[in-house]
Amino acid sequence: NRVLVLNGPNLRRLGVREPDVYGSESFEDLTALCRDTGRRLDLQVEVRQTDDEAEMIRWVHEAADERLPVVLNPAAFTHYSYALRDALAQLRAPLVEVHISNPATREEFRHTSVVAGVATGTIAGFGFMSYVLALQAVAEIVAERHR
Ligand code: DQA
Repeated sequence: NRVLVLNGPNLRRLGVREPDVYGSESFEDLTALCRDTGRRLDLQVEVRQTDDEAEMIRWVHEAADERLPVVLNPAAFTHYSYALRDALAQLRAPLVEVHISNPATREEFRHTSVVAGVATGTIAGFGFMSYVLALQAVAEIVAERHR
């Protein structure tokens, strides 16, 4: 059961970037947490990060073609990338949108997600735990399908 955990722009700078908002742990810490969670849930988790919209869209096409579930933190793409949304609309397995912070409590421009409408669901505001909860949701849905 492969799952892609895709991360958008600036997320490789976790720990350095606005630690008051995103915490003091690094992207490597996040990667380790996702892999450990995957092991616990019997999911083969692949964590990736890019600052490049084109690369992100290629990864989504790959997930669509291979019918892979996706846990996605689109970062700032969340708020404006219709190209990413259109790519995500092609997915045929669950898509969980995640955010470390709770965008609803922040600046006005973060209150809109162009991704939410094509996601299975969204988990936001729980720090790195948002990813753990998202992977749990994926594991439940995958298990449900095999029952
Ligand atoms: C974020 C929230 C976005 O508004 C922001 O652009 C990010 C990170 C989060 O995980 O809280 O880069 O997606």
